[in-house]
Order: sequence, then C-alpha cells, then structure tokens
Amino acid sequence: MRKPILAGNWKMFKNTQETRELAAGLKSKVAQAGDREVVICPPFTSLAAAAAAIQGSSIKLGAQNMYWEDKGAFTGEISPGMLKEIGCSYVIVGHSERRQYFGETDETVNRKMKKAFSSGLLPIVCIGETLAEREGNATFKVLERQLREGIKDLAAAEAKQLVIAYEPVWAIGTGKTATPQQAEEAHAFIRKTIAGMYGEQMAGEIRILYGGSVKPDNIKELMGQADIDGALVGGASLEADSFSKIVNY
Ligand code: 13P
Repeated sequence: MRKPILAGNWKMFKNTQETRELAAGLKSKVAQAGDREVVICPPFTSLAAAAAAIQGSSIKLGAQNMYWEDKGAFTGEISPGMLKEIGCSYVIVGHSERRQYFGETDETVNRKMKKAFSSGLLPIVCIGETLAEREGNATFKVLERQLREGIKDLAAAEAKQLVIAYEPVWAIGTGKTATPQQAEEAHAFIRKTIAGMYGEQMAGEIRILYGGSVKPDNIKELMGQADIDGALVGGASLEADSFSKIVNY
C-alpha cells in the first residue's frame, strides 16, 4: 500500500509572518492525518518559521531546491545539510520552473537527487512535458528521457523511497488540469518505465504525485486513479482552507 502524499509547493510566496499564519491555520485544519503524509515547501527564508509553526503536528517540511555539494564557494546556493538542520525531510528537485528559468537539466536533477538521498533527504523529482511536446505527440518520449537521465544510478534502498511528481507544464498555474484519464495514462507510463529501470517490485512502491492546477474540487477524482499516489499543489496550497480540503479529500 502506497501512503498518499499531499504536498504544497509555495513557490516564491509567503514571507515569515505570512508563513506563521498559514502554517498555524493548516495545523488546526489538518488533523493527525495518519493515513496520508502532508508536506509543505515554503521558500528558504521561511523554512525556520514554518518548522517552528508545525511543531507538534504530523506536517512535514520540504524545500524547493538545493545544491549538490556539502559546502563551498557557491554563492547563493543552499546545501542539503542546511536543509536537514532546519528541519526539512523532503526537497523538490527539477521543478519545471527551475528547468525553464534557471537552467536545470536532467543531469543537474540527477546530481541533486542522488545527493539528497545520501544526505538523508527524500527528493520529490518533477517531470512533465510542455504543451508543444504534448501536441507533437512527444509526451512519452520526454517523460522517458527525463526518467532515464534524471533518476538513474540509484541504490535499491533509495529507489523505493523515491517520489516522482508528474507535472504537465501546460497544466501548471493555468487552471487547465489534465483530465484524470490523461494523468493516469502518464502515471502508468512512468511506473512502467521505472519498472524497466529498477524492477516491478520497486516500481510498485514508488509514489507518483500529480501536479498542475490541483484544487479541492478535482483532487478526489485524481486520487481515484490507480497510479496517482498524491498531489503536488501550487496555488491552492497558499490558503489553509483550500489546502486542508485537498489534504482531507
Ligand atoms: P499549480 O497548482 O498552481 O498549478 O502549480 C503546480 C505546481 O507547479 C506544483 O509544483
């Protein structure tokens, strides 16, 4: 049985004061959701405030990015150790906005993912096709390349803890959700590709989240699909009311 994950990617929203308010709101609305994992991923500068605010709850903390070295002259970067120390257990790797605007590639995704594991963080590796790729019938080809390059060279113990987020770029922030059938088709393909890389058993344990305009009114149907194990939520995770409805779908 794969335990569902409902994760909020706050992107570049919420200063420390706003973080305290939102996290406190979530804490009161998201009861001890024992049968599902709840993760919030605020910006770096709000991680400490979020960590303090969620203490005593089952909500987990994640970061939105990290670098693959422990320390050094890497101006502007954040190490996995820094994230661990502040209380993170998850880190998002290779979000499409990072690929699109900040030059992330399958190779940097792979380095970060491996470093996250060896540092004791669980990576949420994002993949997904653009609209042009979908319209050009290249969706599966793109997903396969992102997986073969992005998640290669994992040890078995790591592979089964991997979390993948399928986020079709055309559905992010657009209000245009993939239909549950479109999402399921992609998720099933992702699981099959992972089975080819790491074996059927491993692929059966890996959690694959859907991301892209997830809202309280579409979460239930998405979660009803066989290969959808949770959601990575952007806009709707910025209000305690809507995110708690998604968590308690
Ligand atoms: P939206 O939910 O705002 O479409 O964002 C999805 C996303 O990018 C989560 O990482």
